[in-house]
Amino acid sequence: MSPTDPLHPPATSGPLLTATALQKSFGDNQVLKSIDLHIDSGQVVALVGPSGSGKTTVLRCLNGLETPDGGTVAFRGGPSVDFGAKVTKKEALSLRDRSAMVFQNYNLFPHRTVLENIIEGPVQVQKRPRKEAVADAERLLARVGLAEKRDDYPFNLSGGQQQRVGIVRALALQPDLLLFDEPTSALDPELVGEVLTVIKELAEEKWTMVIVTHELAFAREVADQVVFMDGGVVVERGHPDQVLRNPREERTRRFVQRLLNPF
Ligand SMILES: Nc1ncnc2c1ncn2[C@@H]1O[C@H](COP(=O)(O)OP(=O)(O)O)[C@@H](O)[C@H]1O
Ligand SMILES: [Mg+2]
Repeated sequence: MSPTDPLHPPATSGPLLTATALQKSFGDNQVLKSIDLHIDSGQVVALVGPSGSGKTTVLRCLNGLETPDGGTVAFRGGPSVDFGAKVTKKEALSLRDRSAMVFQNYNLFPHRTVLENIIEGPVQVQKRPRKEAVADAERLLARVGLAEKRDDYPFNLSGGQQQRVGIVRALALQPDLLLFDEPTSALDPELVGEVLTVIKELAEEKWTMVIVTHELAFAREVADQVVFMDGGVVVERGHPDQVLRNPREERTRRFVQRLLNPF
C-alpha cells in the first residue's frame, strides 16, 4: 500500500485533530460559544444535536470554509491555527488541505460528469497529474459500485448514487479527516442504507471521520465517541452507549427521546 493509496486511510495513530474553544457569531447570533473537539486517527465521532445547534458551523470551521472568531484548530503535523490571534486568509485556508466534506445535498457540479466531478479537486486544486487522478477515481468508483456511472451526469443518478459519488469525491482528495454533514438527510428512506453501508465500511477501514447525523442507531454502531451539542455548546460527550442510551444530561435525554419517539 502506498502512503497515498486513495483506497486506504493514512496509516497513523494518536491525536489527529484538536479544536479548542471555537467561537463563531453571525451578527448578533453567537452560534458557537465554546466548542472543544479531540479526535484520534481512525476514530469516528458522531456529532448530534437539534437543528440550529451549530453542527454544520463546526464542520465548516474545521474545514476552513468558515473563519471562527476565536479558538484553535490544530492538526497533527500542522496546520495549527489560533483564531484568537490575527489569522491570514491563507492560514485559514490551509486547514482545507487536511479534511474533505461530504454535504447533505451532495453539491455535485450538475454540468460535469461523475468523473469530472471527482477529479476536479485533485487536478485543479492539488495539481496532481490528470492520469493519476483518473485512475484513482476509477478505483474509488468501482469500490462503491459505481464504475459504470463514470461518464454519466449527476441528474441521471439516484440520490444514493449521487451521495456515493460525493463520498468518492471526498476520498479522492486523500484527506486525513472526512467530514459528513447529514449525509443521508436528503435521501428517500429506501436509499439511506446504501450510503450508510459505504460509511460503515470506511469506519471499519479506520478512516477518521466526523459525522453529523440524526441516525442514532447508525451513530451507536459506528461511532467511538458521540458529541451532543445544543445552543452552541457541547452538552455531553462520551461512548455512544452512554450518551445515547443512558444520558447524564436532561437536554441530551430529551433530544434522544424526541428522535426515538417523534409523536
Ligand atoms: N452563513 C450564515 N449566516 C448567518 N447565520 C448563519 C449562517 N450559517 C449558520 N447560521 C446560523 O447559525 C445557527 C446554527 O446553524 P448551523 O451550524 O447550520 O446548525 P445545525 O447544522 O446544527 O442545524 C443557525 O441559527 C443558523 O441560522
Ligand atoms: Mg446543519
